[in-house]
Amino acid sequence: MSLLKIARMGHPVLRRKAEPVADPTDPAVAQLVADMVDTMLDASGVGLAAPQVHVSRRIIVFQIPDARRQRDEPLGPDGVTALINPVVEPLGETVENGIEGCLSIPDLRGVVPRWAAIRYRGFAMDGTPVAREAHGFHARVVQHEVDHLDGVLYLDRMDDLRLLAFESELQYLVDQAAALAALDAAEGSPP
Ligand code: NI
Repeated sequence: MSLLKIARMGHPVLRRKAEPVADPTDPAVAQLVADMVDTMLDASGVGLAAPQVHVSRRIIVFQIPDARRQRDEPLGPDGVTALINPVVEPLGETVENGIEGCLSIPDLRGVVPRWAAIRYRGFAMDGTPVAREAHGFHARVVQHEVDHLDGVLYLDRMDDLRLLAFESELQYLVDQAAALAALDAAEGSPP
């Protein structure tokens, strides 16, 4: 097991557009993915993108806790998915606010709008195509990680920086997110 150093906000690799992987079955890719999974789990993260470990290639890994995933949404072995050259498209036009953090931006959390449902595609390490639909938290994690491949951080997606807080003040954000959700629901209901 190898733990990789995680790039923190300010490092240029996080702002670069990552290069596609020519051969998903390259053993070097498998080694990198294994190390990324170890690094993600060690840091108690739910996702990690290759640029976050200073490798500017289009590779992400993520895990979705069972409680935060719809029953019909499959993941890889042990609940961890590695995806090479992933692409995301929205399903529908619904946007949801939710709280995010990032291993490259330690200690902070922010309320970020994301597509509520997406379809994502990519390749597994054996070269087979992967195509899935995802909702809610699962969809949010994939959008966050794929953003990293385009040099985008969750802060860039926030539309109100007052909804950025330290993790130790998380209750503040939970309250704000609940208020936003109530507002969304009110705007969506008939007068
Ligand atoms: Ni991140």
